[in-house]
Amino acid sequence: MAGCRASWIATVAAVAIMLLLGAANAVPTRYPSLRCSTNAPPRNILKANSETLRVGNRPWGIAYLNDDYAFAVVNFSLAVIDTTNFKPKLRVLIPLPPLFAPGTDMGNDDPMSDGYGYRELTFSHDKYNLYIATGYGAVIIDTVRAIQARTNAVVGTLSSNGYAGRSAIELSVTPDDKYIFISQEFGSDNTEGRGAIEVFNVTRLDDGTVISSYRGYVPLAYATVGQKFSSDYTKLFVVSEIDNTTASVNDTAGVLSVLDVAKLRRTPKQALIAEIATGCRPSRCDMADGKHLWVTERDANQVSVFDAEKLMGNRTNATDVLVATVNTGTSPIGIAVAGGYILTADSNRFNYTNATTGVTVVNTATALLGEVDFPQIPTGEFPRSLAVSPSGNTLLVSEFGAGNIRAVDISFLKKL
Ligand SMILES: *[C@@H]1O[C@H](CO)[C@@H](O)[C@H](O)[C@H]1NC(C)=O
Ligand SMILES: *[C@@H]1O[C@H](CO)[C@@H](O)[C@H](O)[C@H]1NC(C)=O
Ligand SMILES: *[C@@H]1O[C@H](CO)[C@@H](O)[C@H](O)[C@H]1NC(C)=O
Ligand SMILES: *[C@@H]1O[C@H](CO)[C@@H](O)[C@H](O)[C@H]1NC(C)=O
Ligand SMILES: *[C@@H]1O[C@H](CO)[C@@H](O)[C@H](O)[C@H]1NC(C)=O
Ligand SMILES: *[C@@H]1O[C@H](CO)[C@@H](O)[C@H](O)[C@H]1NC(C)=O
Ligand SMILES: *[C@@H]1O[C@H](CO)[C@@H](O)[C@H](O)[C@H]1NC(C)=O
Ligand SMILES: *[C@@H]1O[C@H](CO)[C@@H](O)[C@H](O)[C@H]1NC(C)=O
Repeated sequence: MAGCRASWIATVAAVAIMLLLGAANAVPTRYPSLRCSTNAPPRNILKANSETLRVGNRPWGIAYLNDDYAFAVVNFSLAVIDTTNFKPKLRVLIPLPPLFAPGTDMGNDDPMSDGYGYRELTFSHDKYNLYIATGYGAVIIDTVRAIQARTNAVVGTLSSNGYAGRSAIELSVTPDDKYIFISQEFGSDNTEGRGAIEVFNVTRLDDGTVISSYRGYVPLAYATVGQKFSSDYTKLFVVSEIDNTTASVNDTAGVLSVLDVAKLRRTPKQALIAEIATGCRPSRCDMADGKHLWVTERDANQVSVFDAEKLMGNRTNATDVLVATVNTGTSPIGIAVAGGYILTADSNRFNYTNATTGVTVVNTATALLGEVDFPQIPTGEFPRSLAVSPSGNTLLVSEFGAGNIRAVDISFLKKL
């Protein structure tokens, strides 16, 4: 096992390439190594208590406001969830306002498709606003009004009318709450079909309304999805599922892009610092211990671990940025940090036979020392996004396929 891993790392290290980019249209040099696969071998089961809340169709993005409330999107509605007790309770389901209905302003013209609806979400740092990625950009929620189930909970939208895409999927808010970076998964004709990060600056008015200005976009590789700030917020790491340097989607790596946040705010097109070829269909990323970027490689059933400091440097030789890889269950997408653990949502989204769904629980310290296999907490069908409570005691899992929000007691991780 160790030998197998060592040779695998050597292969990837030998081919991982960082390009210094003067222009945003350069692409990473193709690397020949493929490690895509279908279903992962069975995991050891990690037993944990759990309770589910049935919410219906397609729950996706999920986040805790505090230990008492969480928000989740359910197709085109926002669920406010009472998490005071371990078993989550639905407080209110706020439906889609007519403005955002299919075929209208937000570009959601294919509502039955998996690609549309409300997707990932994130809070402003002061927690007064919740930004929900959808269609052309985002819907902005006033969290206080949402908890009070008021009908005026939607306080704004971010939209460039599809200029750089109509498939917004994930977003980040700068620490000063002034800029929003949105992943446009499939881009538009203006991006030549490449994915992009779109940039808006926002101001909250006294009446709670949030207004915005469009600042532009930076085109990246294809199918641009996950994003995460470096721990000092000066860089934004973004993963795109595919490079385009070869004709076949089966013969091409994903791309990890490093963006300069100061430039992203002012001149987005000049923000790209570096691109690194990575894995197979990288989907989401998160930072653990402030030093490493953990990337779910969806179609490789693995997580790649990168040295964040080295990613941030302007380096011409990046053979040593990949520091570890670990195995997960089948088709991992969502990722979250719980203390010294990284959790992945092993989605089995392609319904491979003989595959399990669940949450792999990775000990970050032992993973960095070379451990590759970790146990999995079983879940329902298609776990997609994860949220860890501020107390660290509970994990919420959105089960996109099963139509449930599952609460998992992870307090035992603190004692391991
Ligand atoms: C999602 O919501 C849209 C808009 O209301 C609706 O047309 C569609 O049927 C819903 N999809 C599912 C799977 O519930
Ligand atoms: C966005 O930033 C520009 C330039 O700093 C400023 O003029 C504009 O008022 C800002 N827009 C919003 C909505 O904050
Ligand atoms: C990849 O993208 C570059 C830059 O946009 C473009 O010039 C090239 O034609 C694309 N290649 C393929 C195979 O799509
Ligand atoms: C890619 O691989 C999948 C699974 O093996 C296969 O079904 C598909 O036809 C391949 N696509 C191409 C373009 O080779
Ligand atoms: C990176 O370093 C090269 C060579 O020193 C320089 O030309 C380039 O401008 C630098 N790029 C960034 C983004 O700092
Ligand atoms: C990159 O670094 C590796 C390992 O330190 C070294 O073997 C290789 O020659 C370097 N490549 C370049 C282009 O400098
Ligand atoms: C997987 O199975 C579910 C439930 O039967 C179905 O809704 C979904 O479309 C399937 N997904 C794929 C990729 O086949
Ligand atoms: C399912 O997986 C198990 C464990 O890897 C294996 O022994 C078994 O042959 C597989 N069954 C099928 C139908 O692929």
